[in-house]
Amino acid sequence: MVGMGLLFNTAATAATKALDGQAIFDRNCTACHAMNPPPKSAPPIIGVISQYHTRFQTKEDGVNHLVAYLKSPKKQNAVEPQAIIRFGLMPPSPLSEPELRVVAGWIWDQYDSAMGACGGFGGQGVMNKNCNRGIR
Ligand code: HEC
Repeated sequence: MVGMGLLFNTAATAATKALDGQAIFDRNCTACHAMNPPPKSAPPIIGVISQYHTRFQTKEDGVNHLVAYLKSPKKQNAVEPQAIIRFGLMPPSPLSEPELRVVAGWIWDQYDSAMGACGGFGGQGVMNKNCNRGIR
């Protein structure tokens, strides 16, 4: 399902090309996060990352915010603060900065892969407003 080879060769991934975002995610995030609904003990990633795509125009900005959040989750920095009410605040991630950058970049890219032409993924109500943004 997930398109392979879609990762952009950013400075972050180039510097850490031995790291694999999906593997980092599987090992360190899936205890709490499912990719798609239904949720485990944290919001499904695909809904959260759609909020990041709404809030941030570039992958760089989105990844920077995401890395900062994973290092030190704070309510005032959450892109989806309602999730804190439902699930509690995320604990700070013990991962290194390069690992966080790779996993954040991978998550950012999952949005385009999952959404395609904006048809899929009904049911959360957070996607529709993105549909006129010309997502490739
Ligand atoms: C111990 C459980 C747990 C683990 C492990 C965990 N998370 Fe979370 N995460 C949460 C919870 C709970 C929330 C919702 C509350 C919040 O935003 O702090 C959350 C929120 C988030 C958000 C939304 C932040 C925002 O701006 O609103 C993202 C993105 C995220 N997690 C990514 C990750 C990634 C990537 C990993 C692995 C490196 C990870 N999480 C590991 C529990 C976890």
